Amino acid sequence: MQPQGSRCHTSNASLTETPEGDLVFPTGFLWGISTSAHQVEGNTHNQWSAWEAAGRIKSGDSCGLACDWWRNAERDFDTAADMGLNALRLSVEWSRIEPRPGEWDQQALQRYRAMLIGLRERGIRPMISLHHFTHPVWFEEMGGFLAPNAGAVFERFAKAVVSDLGDLCSDWITFNEPNVYCAMAYVLGEFPPGRKGEVATAIRALGAIALAHARAYRAIHELQPDACVGWAHNYLVFKAARTAADALVAWLQNELFNQSFVRIIKRGKAGFPLNLVTGDVSAARGTCDFVGLNVYSRFHVAFDLANAQQFCGRMFVPEDVPQGDSGVQMAYGEAYPQVIPAAIRIVASLNVPIYILENGVPDAADRIRPWLLVNALKELHGAIEAGADVRGYFHWSLTDNFEWSEGWKLRFGLVALDPATQERTMRNSGRMYERIAKGNALPADLLATYACPMP
Ligand code: BGC
Repeated sequence: MQPQGSRCHTSNASLTETPEGDLVFPTGFLWGISTSAHQVEGNTHNQWSAWEAAGRIKSGDSCGLACDWWRNAERDFDTAADMGLNALRLSVEWSRIEPRPGEWDQQALQRYRAMLIGLRERGIRPMISLHHFTHPVWFEEMGGFLAPNAGAVFERFAKAVVSDLGDLCSDWITFNEPNVYCAMAYVLGEFPPGRKGEVATAIRALGAIALAHARAYRAIHELQPDACVGWAHNYLVFKAARTAADALVAWLQNELFNQSFVRIIKRGKAGFPLNLVTGDVSAARGTCDFVGLNVYSRFHVAFDLANAQQFCGRMFVPEDVPQGDSGVQMAYGEAYPQVIPAAIRIVASLNVPIYILENGVPDAADRIRPWLLVNALKELHGAIEAGADVRGYFHWSLTDNFEWSEGWKLRFGLVALDPATQERTMRNSGRMYERIAKGNALPADLLATYACPMP
């Protein structure tokens, strides 16, 4: 099946390196930032608000008004525009739009319309995610994506959003990171509903999400034939620590986490034996006009019988590798710019345009983010030069925001935020990103300063 939205993409113009050594990106390249509704708006009616009320945020923080976007997203839109950004990824909060099954909150839709108008007036192209980890409590109580009618219910939501907002946006991300969502919710217990070690349930949920995605993909194209519809895929590098047993478990984790959803979309079938659990997912075959990549980290993997839940693979981060700040209980991962070309290789066979939809590092003091930014973009430039069809880079994120179970502990912003006062302070990396976006190039002096191994 041919992707339906391929007409809406323009191809890359040629790349150059200036005589001074600046790395120039293609004309029309998107320089953006990524956000999600719960993390920037604060919300009270989704399964994450219930999770927080149950005391499950590990840092003990509360989301509150988050970055106060529900009242004033426009303050950050101004900053994005001042920085010369031309794209912004946001999500719409299902629990605001459909507070009860089949009931649509027109005021919520109006607020999103105002946000989209505000972005367009500032010359910023919006990309909308329909599901970024949150959904209404009533949907969770139905069983979430494991419910038999979940696909139909999600399709109904997608249609309502696109009917209302489709004149202001034509780039749709159905789901953010189905692989992360299923692993966190059903294997690691870090996301609601907090189930642990249920690998088969996670695979079943992955298949169900693929079918919900496929229904939304087709429904969106019916309403908006030229829409570009894709999903955002999280890719992690799993590096075997030493032995052949380490290599085997690293391979297994790569297969399950990185490959399975991509295979379902490419072939309409998960690999054996996962296909025995997902059932028939052939409807998902070919349902993407682009693919988004969310790329952050590398983990080292060692064979460990005590870690049966993760196929006897223990993930760890050696002390001598570049790292951002650590989470409440766990390291965030090795900051690893080469994750970008590795992720691009995994999705290349889909033959659709690629957007880097998230990349960043938790780093309150901005001690490593400048290095990461320069080296990630250098890797990206190299991949584009080698022929990868990458149309944009979206940094995670503009301001610090509410980092799920880690609360305010992990700070990903180019702009520091004090959630109590809503005061914002631009970080050095924010100024650097501004220069890069405004020049559509990675300047030679930044390369000279940062393009070396992190000490
Ligand atoms: C998620 C974001 C999250 C970011 C940083 C991504 O996997 O999509 O919601 O904030 O990682 O951890």
